[in-house]
Amino acid sequence: MPIAAESQSDHLLHVLYTLQQQHQHISNQSINQVAAEFNLPISQVIAVAEFYSFFYRSPRGRYHLLFSNCTSCGYLATGKNLLLALGQRLGVVAGETRADELVSIGETSCIGMCDQGAALLINGLPMVGLDADRIEQAAQLITAETPIEYWPAEWFYIEDHIHQPGLLLENNGSPGDSLRVALKCGANETLKKIQQSGLRGRGGAGFSTGKKWQFCRDAPGLEHYVICNADEGEPGTFKDRVLLQNYAGAMFEGMTLCAFVIGAEKGFVFLRGEYRYLLAHLQTILRQRRQSGLLGKQILGQNSFNFDIEIVVGAGAYICGEESALIEALEGKPGIPRVRPPFPVTQGYLGQPTVVNNVETLIAAAHINLHGSDWFTVIGTEKSTGSKILSISGDCLSPGVYEYPFGISIQQVLDDCGAANVQAVQVSGPSGKLLGAADFKRKISFEDVSCGGSLLIFSQHQDLLAVNRNFANFFTHESCGFCTPCRVGTQLLKNKLAKIINGRATVDDVAEIKHLGLLTNQYSHCGLGQTAANHILHSMENFPDVFAGCLTDNSYTPQFDLDAALEDARQITLRDDDAAHLKN
Ligand SMILES: Cc1cc2nc3c(=O)[nH]c(=O)nc-3n(C[C@H](O)[C@H](O)[C@H](O)COP(=O)(O)O)c2cc1C
Ligand code: SF4
Repeated sequence: MPIAAESQSDHLLHVLYTLQQQHQHISNQSINQVAAEFNLPISQVIAVAEFYSFFYRSPRGRYHLLFSNCTSCGYLATGKNLLLALGQRLGVVAGETRADELVSIGETSCIGMCDQGAALLINGLPMVGLDADRIEQAAQLITAETPIEYWPAEWFYIEDHIHQPGLLLENNGSPGDSLRVALKCGANETLKKIQQSGLRGRGGAGFSTGKKWQFCRDAPGLEHYVICNADEGEPGTFKDRVLLQNYAGAMFEGMTLCAFVIGAEKGFVFLRGEYRYLLAHLQTILRQRRQSGLLGKQILGQNSFNFDIEIVVGAGAYICGEESALIEALEGKPGIPRVRPPFPVTQGYLGQPTVVNNVETLIAAAHINLHGSDWFTVIGTEKSTGSKILSISGDCLSPGVYEYPFGISIQQVLDDCGAANVQAVQVSGPSGKLLGAADFKRKISFEDVSCGGSLLIFSQHQDLLAVNRNFANFFTHESCGFCTPCRVGTQLLKNKLAKIINGRATVDDVAEIKHLGLLTNQYSHCGLGQTAANHILHSMENFPDVFAGCLTDNSYTPQFDLDAALEDARQITLRDDDAAHLKN
């Protein structure tokens, strides 16, 4: 039987995933089988299998647990200890598989459950609200080899935590309403409405959605494509998870609207691997829309309007949120960002004009078309019309999703979510800005503090250097390795931070880390490397005491303690006399 028939779709990533499910890893035999079926060089299939964190070339345990190492879901305070405890309890080391292949454990980058307490993925399924008790029970269930479907259901229940609905979250709309309006006014008028609304992309960069659609529509090509970026990998961000769970119909409507404007017949949702649990739900909505004539051939009876959507699930690579890397992944390649220009609007998927938009942007577009551009511009600021949906987590009483008109102050958000005694706020995840109290009066908007969707709150008791270290680990792990400034820069920054944290750094090290940070940001190929040092540079600028407090007075100290490093050698040679020690 061809492999594709057994998987949910014939996309390379899905086929590899299916084979991995069957054999606990992607074996050489699977690689050969896939290469033959897809008529691809074996080297390309290996490159894909080795690029993505959720693909394994050696067997994982039948229970495979990955703890989210995000600061906001409590990894530093809780998750790390729980990981160690589970490892000891089950006799397995993090990153390895137990000899009997029953269990393997490890860490993974933020899984988008920051409002749910400490969390992990077990065989790809998010398990939340972790504490010592739950971990002990999990250890017993694993030991008894109890299938996961018999584990307590509440461990897998993901609450939405929508605390403050606004323009978008209060309006779910009826399926097809926005499309009917579009068919009535035509593609030109629809595009005009999006342009007049001033809608800007909600995925981070804030590019005008109307312009993007116009550029793509005007670009010559055999086909045009629409892609919804549901990769949401920025630590601390989970608003797209909530939108996908509750507002997917509006998102598909926005994609279909975009297809109508740019003349696309095919669209993709690129869903992050961590949200695979949402796939069945999304497929159900797609099926319903096909049955209602809102997708497929002759949508709503319009002769030339044909469009359908495929969902492709990623496999654990933050870089695939970058639009050109995402397109590479869709094309069945490792997610390495392309050289831009050309931009996707002229040469995107398969070299054809492509719109890539964030989940929230597409939902906003569907509503704007239905309610009119004035409905949108009436709130927000001059350059940031409408609302912004925020994922709020960390040290506050009510973590969750909040929607505000652009122009809201950071302080107001902190008050609303019950954050007191706040030391710092990381806006837009590790690649964004780390702000202190002096900046809390500033406004969330493209003209002041722009925000892709998350606020991580750190109270006075948090160790900001530990937070920096966590972010530095994240970037080192997620760098795709394509360009030297990012591949090497992120590693050097991580090493330097360790030196500071270990109390071995001098003022010269601080100057060097700043220099390194600027080089990494300036010379990296894509947005990941260009923002990878932000958190350190902002810490230095806004919290100089944090660094100064850890420095030694020496003019130079090596990266590590040379004398301590010789301890093993001393033990082996049974020597501990003065001559066996380095003099300071
Ligand atoms: C490293 C990196 C990760 C990104 N991750 C996401 C993401 O998860 N979701 C998203 O919509 N945009 C992400 N972006 C931005 C996308 O490249 C792109 O600008 C966006 O999807 C465009 O949609 P918009 O115009 O609706 O914002 C990321 C960019 C970079 C550099
Ligand atoms: S900046 Fe980093 S993530 Fe981007 S291409 Fe270079 S190595 Fe890859």
